[in-house]
Amino acid sequence: MDKTAAISGVMGYVPDFRLTNAMLEEMVDTNDEWIVSRTGIKERRILKGEQAGTSVMAIEAVNRLLEKTNTATTDVDLVIAATVTPDMRFPSLANIVADKCKMPGIPAFDINAACSGFLYALNVGSQMISTGLYKKVIVVGADKMSSILNYKDRSTCILFGDGAGAVLLEPNEEGCGVLDCFMGGDGSGEKYLNLKAGGSRTPLTHELLDLGAHYVFQDGGPVFKMAVSKMAESAKLIMERNQLSAEDVHWLVPHQANKRIIDATANFAGLPIEKVMVNIEKYGNTTAATIPLCLWEWENKMNPGDNLILVAFGGGFSWGATYLKWAY
Ligand code: COA
Repeated sequence: MDKTAAISGVMGYVPDFRLTNAMLEEMVDTNDEWIVSRTGIKERRILKGEQAGTSVMAIEAVNRLLEKTNTATTDVDLVIAATVTPDMRFPSLANIVADKCKMPGIPAFDINAACSGFLYALNVGSQMISTGLYKKVIVVGADKMSSILNYKDRSTCILFGDGAGAVLLEPNEEGCGVLDCFMGGDGSGEKYLNLKAGGSRTPLTHELLDLGAHYVFQDGGPVFKMAVSKMAESAKLIMERNQLSAEDVHWLVPHQANKRIIDATANFAGLPIEKVMVNIEKYGNTTAATIPLCLWEWENKMNPGDNLILVAFGGGFSWGATYLKWAY
């Protein structure tokens, strides 16, 4: 790589409303003990409000990021948004964010790689900087999962929450930033995790609405197994090919889908839980927002030069890992 792209600022946004396990007990046949022991989740945030789409959270995160990093809106070259819940089928969430955050005229596009979306977007954005094409790239991961969940389906509604996280990427001359990345995929995973109705193959009809086909469908068992194996493999592979031992890694930043998947990944990589960023108990699975929300919450604990391994798995199937050196 010519130049590395480093994260020079991070910001998160979660809505105020907390959907607790006790509240879910009133909605579906479930209980706190089951949810905590099988997933590690205690509560998740839900975005309320008429016409409040994912952009509400993404815009908050990006505006606060610009302010915090003292970045002029006119200096931003590109916005990439990772999401499966854009406000509309089109235009993209990134376009809406660029407009509302007063960055007119710049390129902006979405990446749909489900729970791997932020990692994919980070890798794409960092390449754009490494080639010298752009100097300031905003990558935002945001999802309003509550908009596509069936709150009568106990197998999915307990898992997800709403949130957004954004990072600023800039060139770095000191060897910090994204040093290696890879992405993987397997489209045959479609049958295990999808949202059918409303796509071009299955346009939405009254009958499909009645069947709830416009909500997330998940066959949890196969997804769980694949998530464990791909997250673990990905973490190990990127560590091995960068000659990083468990001692060399300061932080593992895993996608937050299930505490048991996180534990298995950390175990496989030989990393103690103290080195693993985990906030799933507070937010559940916020899909494209989990990794930046972790970086945001751990920002003050990190030091320049810290080695981070980011690892994700999601619908598609999609997966990947990134090795980055923290820059500040
Ligand atoms: N509360 C109580 N019981 C529940 C429940 C709930 N919310 N959801 C499912 N159950 C029941 C099931 O009906 C099943 O009952 P049965 O044995 O009588 O059939 C039992 O609990 C066990 O279900 P199972 O699906 O085997 O549980 P699990 O241990 O596999 O956990 C998930 C289910 C969804 C938590 C787990 O499969 C998972 O995390 N999958 C991957 C999720 C994921 O990563 N998704 C996003 C991709 S990033």
